[in-house]
Amino acid sequence: MGFPAGFQWGVATAAYQIEGAVDEDGRGPSTWDTFAHTPGRVKDGHTGDVACDHYHRWPEDLELMAGLGIDSYRFSVAWPRVQPAGSGAVNAKGLDFYERLVDGLLERGISPAATLYHWDLPQPLEDAGGWMSRDTAYRFAEYAYLVAERLGDRVDKWITLNEPVVVMAYGYAFGVYAPGQALMLDALPTAHHQLLGHGLAVTALRARGARQIGITNHYSPAWPADPANAADRAAAAAFDALMNGLFTDPVLRGAYPDLAGLGGPDPAGFVRDEDLAVISAPIDFLGVNYYQPTRLAAPPRDGELPFEMTEIEGHAVTGMGWPIVPAALGDLLRGLRERYGDLLPPIYITENGCSFPDEVASDGTVDDAARIAFLDAHIKAVRDAVDDGVDVRGYYTWSLMDNFEWAEGYGPRFGLVHVDYETLRRTPKRSYSWYRDLIAASRA
Ligand code: NOJ
Repeated sequence: MGFPAGFQWGVATAAYQIEGAVDEDGRGPSTWDTFAHTPGRVKDGHTGDVACDHYHRWPEDLELMAGLGIDSYRFSVAWPRVQPAGSGAVNAKGLDFYERLVDGLLERGISPAATLYHWDLPQPLEDAGGWMSRDTAYRFAEYAYLVAERLGDRVDKWITLNEPVVVMAYGYAFGVYAPGQALMLDALPTAHHQLLGHGLAVTALRARGARQIGITNHYSPAWPADPANAADRAAAAAFDALMNGLFTDPVLRGAYPDLAGLGGPDPAGFVRDEDLAVISAPIDFLGVNYYQPTRLAAPPRDGELPFEMTEIEGHAVTGMGWPIVPAALGDLLRGLRERYGDLLPPIYITENGCSFPDEVASDGTVDDAARIAFLDAHIKAVRDAVDDGVDVRGYYTWSLMDNFEWAEGYGPRFGLVHVDYETLRRTPKRSYSWYRDLIAASRA
């Protein structure tokens, strides 16, 4: 494939999407338990109560990873397992679980990459204001410290937050993800408080000897509906600032992008002078999640947002209806390099993948040719960006196995491994063997 020596191949998952065992060993409730158990919030009433039962079946899942020959596994630590109340008392049994997992990875020569927050906020913290409250940032740093105290000597990569933009937009602005608040632009403080939590956590993790620390952001290249139309270009620029720049500029440059004209609340109400120095504490890598570009048009007259998202035509789509545009991943990587120059740390693609309605055939195989084509094209786009000088050090496929796709429930299947949700049986798909062979070939 032509990747530099030492390039890391991996797979990614997240706690609430795979673990299940929500009431076991002292775990407290999270916002996603509450949300999923609220009728009408998640498709078909699905919840993460059982999910893939990874909490009990992790040895089998480790074997699947070992079979792939991956270099690294990205998982997330469930805050409500470690601190059921979100602050104060530590639940040792919660930490024990992640310790078993990390040691199991190391025994198999797989490097652990731990995400500290993949959306499962302890419910008591949400009851106290959640990410709208500045206090949550301090609670997060405390929790990060506790996890690193136990695992700091064995986890190779720490990812503070996963896709804070989605928490802000889907969780607090549009209300389609937990905690289900529809505050529109009034949700902006949740961006700042998550970023502050990230910065405070970086300092806490360093204090506990963490080696490599980064943040994972969701990036969606912004395409103006009509590039010749100035209003569409302005809409794309506004989307880019709000969705892509908002969570990267403060971390890498110590400044917010220009959000003037968005019409949101006055930042003076929640941003303190000293915060940006905390948020821009040096990091060792940037995690990039990429799925699809977004096409923007000028907003309607009475629109609450400075853009309108419009459909991208002319590309095949995944099971989620997302357009398949591998070239946009290359553009995104080169764009980050252009925008941040020497301020850009090494990049890991911490997620990239696709869902399709994969089924097990009568002969026991799952032929997911479309996923293989998707991954192949995106991995080639990454390699082209590397050839162009972008420092990308690794690629994690989303996901190891089919899992709970948030508000979409168990319908979408993103895995290299098929999961039967009745028997919880795991069946490697054809993409699993394909990825295994690609990894082996890249080392040859
Ligand atoms: C990004 C999120 O981090 C992950 O949790 C989700 O399942 C994938 N996108 C697919 O939507």
